[in-house]
Amino acid sequence: MSKATVVANPNIAFVKYWGKIDETLNLPANPSLSMNLAALTTVTTVEFRPGLRVDAVTIDDRPAVGESFDRVVAHLGRVRSLAGFSARACVVSRNDFPAGTGLASSASAFAALSLAATRAAGLDLDERALSRLARLGSGSACRSVPAGFSLWEGDSDGTSFARQVAGRGHWDLVDVVAIVAYEHKRVGSHSGHGLASTSPLHEARLAAVPGWLKAILRGIRDRDLSAIGPCMEADALAMHGVMMTSVPSLLYWTPATVSVLQAVRSWREEGLRVYFSLDAGPNVHCLCESADALEIEQRLRNLAGVQDVLVSGVGDGVRPVAYHLF
Ligand code: PMV
Repeated sequence: MSKATVVANPNIAFVKYWGKIDETLNLPANPSLSMNLAALTTVTTVEFRPGLRVDAVTIDDRPAVGESFDRVVAHLGRVRSLAGFSARACVVSRNDFPAGTGLASSASAFAALSLAATRAAGLDLDERALSRLARLGSGSACRSVPAGFSLWEGDSDGTSFARQVAGRGHWDLVDVVAIVAYEHKRVGSHSGHGLASTSPLHEARLAAVPGWLKAILRGIRDRDLSAIGPCMEADALAMHGVMMTSVPSLLYWTPATVSVLQAVRSWREEGLRVYFSLDAGPNVHCLCESADALEIEQRLRNLAGVQDVLVSGVGDGVRPVAYHLF
């Protein structure tokens, strides 16, 4: 048994995954489509040590506790049963971006944990099997396994995985993320999914998704931001509509979130090609082509309520790195 260190990028979904048809297998209520974010990374080292009595998990230099710890241990358990041994592991994981604020840290976390743990256990899963495994840790993590742009089509036989629809070199799209809050969200997406079906808007959103997905797939193929943007914004707003009208209601936005949404729309009226998206948090993802990224970054930095701006091009898939964290 050895140890392995890997790196994964989170992803921003253009069509969101919100709601599950199977809570245990993380089977999504609808297909989703995303782009990996090169500038945001999670680096994770896993080492199985036969002498350990319990798993030891450190995330961002702190011992993991509660739900985060339990989810990592459950995932290690999946790898142990695949490998057929019971050794406990030492896991050290670091994000270079704020976790739990709508930047999809669970996606990169479980993509990284899946590759690091399987490699450390001596297993060599292909991309499809790795994506399936990552999905069991956190649904959106399956989309961080392939490089570039990934489609996760839900299927009901429990084997669903994400596959690449375009590589990272296909299109120089950029996600300029306006950070308006750093606080850890109170209700994470993991439990939020279970509330989706309590919203009267959930079924209406699900009915609209296939049309948005088709238009976005075509827009990626043709590198046409104006074909993607309106559908991406509509789905982000629809997902937040579902969140806001679920029981209990989830309201992730702050006044600064709304300011950024309005600014993006007014910049577009001036001719800038930029569209927004949001994950389960208050921070706003502004998608544009690389030629416009600097202008958008500067404008965001000048908006009241924006605390920082992250700029990311299209990311790679989950991959091993040559060094170890500990
Ligand atoms: O993978 P989870 O359970 O953290 O769900 C992620 C859900 C959203 O980020 C809100 C949307 C998405 O498709 O990434």
